[in-house]
Formats: sequence, C-alpha cells, structure tokens
Amino acid sequence: MTHRIASIPGDGIGVDVTIEARRVLDAAAAKYGFSLEWTEFDWSCERYAKTGAMMPDDGVEQLSGFDGILLGAVGFPGVADHVSLWGLLIPLRRAFQQYVNLRPVRLLPGTTSVLAGRKADELEMVIVRENSEGEYSAIGGRHNAGRPDEFVLQESVFTRVGVERIIRYAFELARTRSQHVTSATKSNGLIHSMPYWDEIFAEVAAKYPDVRAEQCHVDALVARMVQAPDRLDVVVASNLFGDILSDLAAAITGGLGMAPSGNINPSGEFPSMFEAVHGSAPDIAGQGIANPVAQILAGAMLLDHLGETVAAQAIRASVDEVLTAGETLTPDLGGTATTTALGAAVAASLR
Ligand code: NAD
Ligand code: IPM
Ligand code: MN
Repeated sequence: MTHRIASIPGDGIGVDVTIEARRVLDAAAAKYGFSLEWTEFDWSCERYAKTGAMMPDDGVEQLSGFDGILLGAVGFPGVADHVSLWGLLIPLRRAFQQYVNLRPVRLLPGTTSVLAGRKADELEMVIVRENSEGEYSAIGGRHNAGRPDEFVLQESVFTRVGVERIIRYAFELARTRSQHVTSATKSNGLIHSMPYWDEIFAEVAAKYPDVRAEQCHVDALVARMVQAPDRLDVVVASNLFGDILSDLAAAITGGLGMAPSGNINPSGEFPSMFEAVHGSAPDIAGQGIANPVAQILAGAMLLDHLGETVAAQAIRASVDEVLTAGETLTPDLGGTATTTALGAAVAASLR
C-alpha cells in the first residue's frame, strides 16, 4: 500500500522538525510494510519574499489529490503574521473543510511540566477545536482612519451548520472515550456568539443522553485544566478558545515541543492536514535544538488517519521510550540533544 503525502515544511523550526517526522514515518513504513510517497512544497515566507505569495494560485488544487498533508509551520519575521497565515494555513483549513482541529493531550514521560508528578492517566484529554469560522474572520475593518475616534471592528461568524457539526463531532468522539464533553463558553461576556454556541450545545447534548455534557466559562476552564485536569476528557471549543486552550494543554503536558494536532476533514472528501500545535519559533530557528516530538506525534496522527494504526501506535510507544530513557532530550526538556539526535533516537527505537 502506498500513501501519497504532501509535505510543506514552511518556515523556521517547521523545516527542522518536519525532516525528523519524515525520518520516523519512513522508518515506520519500512517496518510495517507500507510505503509513503512524499512530494515536498516550498511554500513559506521565503517564497513570499521572492514571489509575493505564500503559495501559488492553484495551491489548493495541487494538494487536493494527496492522501494527507504534513505541515511544518509558517510565519517568520519580515512577513506580517496575518499575511503569512491567511496566505496558507487558514485558507487550506477552509478550502479542505478541515473543520475539526483535533488536539490530543497526553502527559508525556520525561517532561518538566507543572503536572509532571501526576500519573499519565490523570491527564488524558482531547481538545476538539472548531477550525473553520468563529472568531477567525476576515469581516471587519478600520474606521475613521487617522482621526481621534479611529476604531476597528473584528466580526465573529458562528453558523448553525458550523457550530452544530463541531459539537456533534465532540459527542461522537466522547462515545468512544469516557462519555464526557465539556464545552468552553464565555456567554457571560459575549452576548451574541457564545449564548448561541451554548444554545446549540444544549440541543446537541439532548440527542446524546448517554454522554455527560457540561459547560464551563473558558477563564474558569483554564484554571481547571491545571488544577483538576482529571475532571476533563473531550473539550469542545470555538476557534480562538480552542487555540488558546491547546497551548495551555501543551504547556502542562510537556511543552509546546510535544503537542500534535490534526486538521481533519471528517467526510474524507478532501485531504486532512497534520502539524504540531507550535509555530515556527523564530527565537530558536536555525540552531538545531527544536524538539521534534510534536511533529513526530502529528505524523503518527497522520498514519492513524491513513488507517496505519499499528504503526502510529508504535511511533507513540517509541516516543515514550526515548523520553523515558532521557538520554536524547532537547534543551526545552532539560537536555542537550539536537533535533536530529532526538528524531534519530525515535526512529532507532522503532526499528
Ligand atoms: P511558537 O509556538 O513558534 O513559539 C513559542 C515559544 O515556544 C518559543 O519560545 C519557542 O522557541 C518555543 N517552542 C515552540 N516550539 C518548540 C519546539 N518544537 N521545541 C522547542 N521550543 C519550542 O509561537 P509564536 O512565537 O507565537 O509564533 C512564531 C511564529 O509561528 C509566528 O509567525 C506565528 O504566527 C507562527 N505560528 C504558526 C503556526 C502554524 O503554522 N501552524 C502555529 C503557531 C504559530
Ligand atoms: C495554531 C496557530 C494558528 C491558529 C495561527 C498561526 C493562525 O496558532 O494552529 O494553533 O491560531 O490557528
Ligand atoms: Mn495556536
């Protein structure tokens, strides 16, 4: 079986960690008897500097025939972040209807997190982030420019279809786990969007009487994630809340270098796209010290998506083994190993 994968390493450490994820995925393919046919795309801020565009006009079309996409990260000083991200990541998520951003949260061994003392099964949740609308909207703009009464409006868009499908996805997922969904809301402060979100959450919850449904204001939820994470399992959140919650989840389970993510098109009509939760980390780019674990685990999610679940599980086990051994940890984990050394150690443990 051959899977055709598009790789977009992107910018900064996106490039370093994607090489390591490919190394590990290739080792898994060799061991478990399938093959990966990679096509690499140089879409990045560097390309923007040369051509004025993050990706070609037919970029979406070029990717549409692949079985999956592995994305490094995009964004680098020199190109405004909203230009680089709205020039590549966000349009791809939308064009391919990857309306679920799945961000599994698992306490990894060998971490220096504030929750490091906990047992692994005390912290095992998944953030189901709405990935196609909500607070991430291009509607709005600057008014009265240059005047003392200048202001900007930034609109949010919550559609019935969009909110319903992400909440339904969370409930379906909960049925395969511990039958518990927590919705991140903020209907005390936002008077249109979040009350609507809550209303639809209640409607969907009524159709899943077997699943425990609760809602929690997002500010209280972040405190709960740190103080009582064992009381959470599936957390469903809007685009912006899910974004913020997932960096917190990364921080408490081992750091940004450890958290994977999948932009999922549930219908399978379009390719899904896998990436680390973190960005291009310009502060450590080019030093060879980025932690590749998040991107390796994103690669494992890609294999799960392709049906190569045994190989995916083996990769997760190898990551755990290498982190537990503690001999090849990158600086963010308190070690002195390079990105390549950690990637190679995971690949070697897999073989
Ligand atoms: P970031 O995640 O890149 O970095 C935040 C901090 O975490 C930095 O100190 C960084 O060094 C550290 N870090 C992140 N990943 C690490 C790793 N693998 N190993 C060790 N340390 C790691 O977030 P930021 O600084 O807010 O964003 C930098 C750029 O990346 C911006 O242009 C932003 O827009 C972009 N970004 C892109 C994506 C994406 O393409 N998916 C995601 C997030 C941010
Ligand atoms: C993420 C990133 C992106 C997001 C940014 C870079 C637009 O932070 O994937 O978490 O907010 O979706
Ligand atoms: Mn983010």
